[in-house]
Amino acid sequence: RLLTTAGATGAGGLALGTTGGALAHAATTRDRGPGLSTVGSTSVPFHGTHQPGITTPIQAHGHLAAFDLVPGAGRRQAAGLLRRWSTLAADLMAGGTAETDTGVARDAGPASLTVTFGFGRGFFDATDLAHARPAALDPLPQFSSDHLDPERSDGDLWVQIGADDGLVAFQALRVLQRAAIESGAARVRWQMSGFSRSPGATARPMTTRNLMGQVDGTNNPQPSDPDFDRRIFVPAGGEPGWMAHGSYAVVRRIRMLLDDWEAQSRAEQERVIGRRKSDGAPLTGEEETSPVDLDAVDEAGDPVIPANAHIRVTSPDTNGGAAMLRRSFSFHDGFRADGAPDAGLLFVCWQADPLNGFVPVQRKLDRGDALSAYIRHEASALFAVPGGAAEGEYVGQALLE
Ligand code: HEM
Repeated sequence: RLLTTAGATGAGGLALGTTGGALAHAATTRDRGPGLSTVGSTSVPFHGTHQPGITTPIQAHGHLAAFDLVPGAGRRQAAGLLRRWSTLAADLMAGGTAETDTGVARDAGPASLTVTFGFGRGFFDATDLAHARPAALDPLPQFSSDHLDPERSDGDLWVQIGADDGLVAFQALRVLQRAAIESGAARVRWQMSGFSRSPGATARPMTTRNLMGQVDGTNNPQPSDPDFDRRIFVPAGGEPGWMAHGSYAVVRRIRMLLDDWEAQSRAEQERVIGRRKSDGAPLTGEEETSPVDLDAVDEAGDPVIPANAHIRVTSPDTNGGAAMLRRSFSFHDGFRADGAPDAGLLFVCWQADPLNGFVPVQRKLDRGDALSAYIRHEASALFAVPGGAAEGEYVGQALLE
C-alpha cells in the first residue's frame, strides 16, 4: 500500500524555511517496489557541488558526532578515512549495499538520508596542514553567557547525519563510527542525537516547531534569494582554495529552561520572540510570511516588536546584513536531577564566514535579548565543511591529496 499522506511531504515538501518556500534539494524518489512509501524511498544524491545536509530539508532524526584523530594518525590516515567515509556515505544514501548493511535498516529505503563531513581546527595541526587552515576556523569568541562543556565541544572531524527514519539514521552513524575504529585513525569525541517533525505529520507542509513551541525557521535565507550563495557558501576562487563551494557550520547545544519558559503567559512568550506562537506571524503582521515591520509602534508609541525581542536583535537589518542558514534539530536527553527536561536545540547554522554570520549576531544576543533568560549554551563547535565530492572523489580530497 502506498502511504500517500506521508508521501505528500516525504519528497522534501517540508521546507526548512518558510512555508511553501521550498528550499532547493536534490532529492530524487526511487521506486523501491510496492509498499515502500515516498518517505522511505526518497534518496538525496551524495555527489554534487555542495555537500548534502545543508539545503536539504531537515529530517525527522539527526545525529551529530565529532571525532578526534588518534595520536600518531596523520594526513595519510586521515585521507584514507575520508575516502572510506565518502564511499560508505554515498552507498548508504543510495539505499545501502551488503557492506553497509548491519541489518538494522534492512527493510527501509534511504529515507532522505544525508551525511555531511567537516574539519575542526585541531585537524590541521594533527595532519601537518596548519598552513591550509582557514582563518575562518579561528576559535569563536567566548561569550559571557556561555556555560560550555569542553568534552562535548570542538573536535577534529565532524559528521552530521539526518534521515526520516530512526533506524536508517542509526545505521549510518554506526557504519561510519565503525569505519573510524577500523581505520585506526579516529575515535568519537562526542555525539548528540536530535529530532524534528516527521514528514506527513501535519496536514500540509509547514515550518517546524522547536521545543518551546515556536514556529522556527521562518526567516531563513532561501536558495532563491539572489545573495543566498554568497552568504552561505565559500565562492570558487575564495580562500583557502580547497574550501570552494563549502560552508562553515557553527554547532551549539542550547538547553532550554522549559520550566521557566512554560510559566510565562502566551503574550509574554510572544513578546520574547516578536512573533505569534499560534502561526509564527510577526507581531506586526497577519501571517507567517508577512514582512517584519521593526519600525511599527503602538498607540503609546512603544515598538510593537520590543527592543529586546529575539527577531529584532537577530535580524540581518540590525546586524549589517549578517545572515546564516539555521538548520537545527531538537534534542531531549531525559530529565535532570531537579526534574527539568534536559532538552533544547542542537543549533546548527551555516554561513560563508562565521565572522559575518554567527559571531556578530551571538555577540548581540549575549548582551541579553529577551530569549537569553530561558536558554543555556552548553557546548560549541565550529567546522569547515568542504564542497561536495564529484563522482569518484572523496570529501576533502582537494585538501588531503
Ligand atoms: C529567528 C528561536 C537561538 C539567530 C528565530 C525565531 C525563533 C527563534 C522562534 C523566529 C522564526 C524564524 O525566523 O525562524 C530560537 C531559539 C533559540 C535560538 C529557541 C535557542 C534555543 C538563536 C541563535 C542565533 C539565532 C543562537 C544566532 C546566533 C536567529 C536569526 C533569526 C532567528 C538570524 C531570524 C531573524 C530574522 O531575520 O527575522 N529564532 N533561536 N537564534 N534566530 Fe533564533
